[in-house]
Amino acid sequence: MSIQKTVRRLTAPDIARRKDGEPIVSLTAYHAHTAQLLDAYVDFMLVGDSLGMVMHGYESTVPVPLELMIMHGQAVVRGSARALVVVDMPFGSYEESPAIAFRNAARVMKETGCGAVKLEGGKRMAETILYLTERGIPVMGHIGLTPQSVNVMGGFKTQGRERAQWEAIEEDASAVAGAGAFAVVLEGMAELLAARLTKQIPIPTIGIGASVECDGQILVLEDMLGLSPRVPKFVKEFAKIGPAIEDAVKAYRQAVRLREFPGEEHTYTMKEETSQATKKSKMTGS
Ligand code: KIV
Repeated sequence: MSIQKTVRRLTAPDIARRKDGEPIVSLTAYHAHTAQLLDAYVDFMLVGDSLGMVMHGYESTVPVPLELMIMHGQAVVRGSARALVVVDMPFGSYEESPAIAFRNAARVMKETGCGAVKLEGGKRMAETILYLTERGIPVMGHIGLTPQSVNVMGGFKTQGRERAQWEAIEEDASAVAGAGAFAVVLEGMAELLAARLTKQIPIPTIGIGASVECDGQILVLEDMLGLSPRVPKFVKEFAKIGPAIEDAVKAYRQAVRLREFPGEEHTYTMKEETSQATKKSKMTGS
């Protein structure tokens, strides 16, 4: 008899039901090994287009191609079994029309096996969000600081620190929720506004630089691990992996230069030599 362990993966509706419940935990993941490490601890993993900056050295997320998102999405889905995997739609893959957005989002869902996609934009994307959700694609919204609009905004600018900005952002939040998104990321936003939106809309708000008032939190994994050279104010570094990597590389360099590495325990000997050495040690009892 074969015993099969089945782990049920969390779905977009599972996340939607967490509104006002236990805070939703999420992080970005870009490859299989980290996905495996995170899987037991997060409710969803985002294959964020921030991977363009973090993994590929782009200045912004604008140049990220759809194919890159699909490749990283596939790796993260392969590396995980329990958490919902959400894949970001990159700049240029969804804005032109709802039909083009559907074609590209369907490709992402089919080719990666992820459970949802995320796209940036409020009111202006509501028609597209409705089009996708009505056709079977769960959508996570993303409003406030939307990094793909960096060239229009003139930088990565925190939103809603002046009350005059609130009305437009409130309209964005209710448009995204009304169009059927199952959750919405609030990025780089004043606490008072994030709290207000979280009360106003019926779907979970996931904060990144939007205070503890949101229904859940997300951070870029490399930022919270202390691996990124610079991080924004809202990031807490829960570890210092960057300096730990540097120390390890220095120790490796030293060991190679001094011929201390590889040692015997890392070296393959000839089979006969190994068996003769074993026999000899059995005879001598050493
Ligand atoms: O791309 C990303 O990592 C994101 C998060 C910052 C929410 O969109």
